[in-house]
Amino acid sequence: METIFSGIQPSGTPTIGNYIGAMKQFIDLQNHYSCYFCIVDEHAITVPQDPLKLRQQTRSLAALYLAVGLDPEKATIFIQSEVSAHAEAAWIIQCNTTIGELERMTQFKDKSQKNGRTGVSAGLLTYPPLMVGDIVLYNANLVPVGDDQKQHLELTRDFVERFNKRYGQANQEVLVLPEVKIAEQGGRVMSLQDPTKKMSKSDTNSKGFISMLDEPAIIRKKIKSAVTDSTGIIEYDPVNKPGISNLLSIFSASTGRPVEELVADYTGKGYGEFKTDLAEAVVALLAPIQERYHELLASDELDDILDKGADQARLVANKTLQRMKNAIGLGRKPRKR
Ligand code: AMP
Ligand code: TRP
Repeated sequence: METIFSGIQPSGTPTIGNYIGAMKQFIDLQNHYSCYFCIVDEHAITVPQDPLKLRQQTRSLAALYLAVGLDPEKATIFIQSEVSAHAEAAWIIQCNTTIGELERMTQFKDKSQKNGRTGVSAGLLTYPPLMVGDIVLYNANLVPVGDDQKQHLELTRDFVERFNKRYGQANQEVLVLPEVKIAEQGGRVMSLQDPTKKMSKSDTNSKGFISMLDEPAIIRKKIKSAVTDSTGIIEYDPVNKPGISNLLSIFSASTGRPVEELVADYTGKGYGEFKTDLAEAVVALLAPIQERYHELLASDELDDILDKGADQARLVANKTLQRMKNAIGLGRKPRKR
């Protein structure tokens, strides 16, 4: 069976962008692959985090993973910082990656431009190697992510090829070469306030995103005030009509109905009616998830699952880490027992 790894940062409450672009795919995948779904808290600290809040959001994200339908009997669900192999692997990977490669990452360029290069943490630059480590430690063949992570996956593939070439033996590769898997519909959910920008849980304007834990009244309000255009015609044209096209994608992903069918349904109808129906669709999508989430958060079950997940993850990750260390000559040769 092939292996899947993916992670989400506990840097805020996930948005419907995270759900549509990442989590929703996970549910189906767990039936067909050996899956590792990680809460990547070490990635979150590349930017300043409040310690109490970080803890809370980490556990909350774990509860959401389960609430959307991830099954701990099928998938390994765990917290990155509870498996120390991640930080160790990241160091080895950093030492086999050039600063030039890392400075080319658009996410780094964007964030360091916003805050000034001297004002951002070194971790923001070296975060892709941490991500590479996440993926290779579990021998992942496939990595389901949103569109914004494509470049990091390319870096991962370059790294694996280079590492295997340099340290692999004739017909024995050290690391598995992963493929990226982008959601067909909803790989990039856009901001409700600026549909040319990705919907992000760290947006300072909370009207730009719908959080997975937003209450129905808030969801209705945010969708009502979503930016569209003045034509009043419901059609899918992301270039010229990014606002309504984004809402159509969200509608489609929330209901499973194809965009074309929705467009046909709403021909001649106004944005107002469309938005009202969309809001109800999103409310209906999130209501059962939120209910289960609150149950889980108050239970011991969640911590039991995370303990077990970390144990399972450690077993696999430590094996790969040892293989990496052996390949590059770190430590002594493992002794035969
Ligand atoms: P992050 O919130 O940056 O930790 O992202 C977690 C996962 O959600 C990654 O696979 C992202 O690519 C995906 N994701 C984040 N925001 C969006 C979005 N607006 N649309 C689609 N996918 C997204
Ligand atoms: N960097 C990803 C993001 O910001 C999250 C992430 C970390 C990830 N490690 C990963 C995604 C490994 C897939 C695989 O969205």
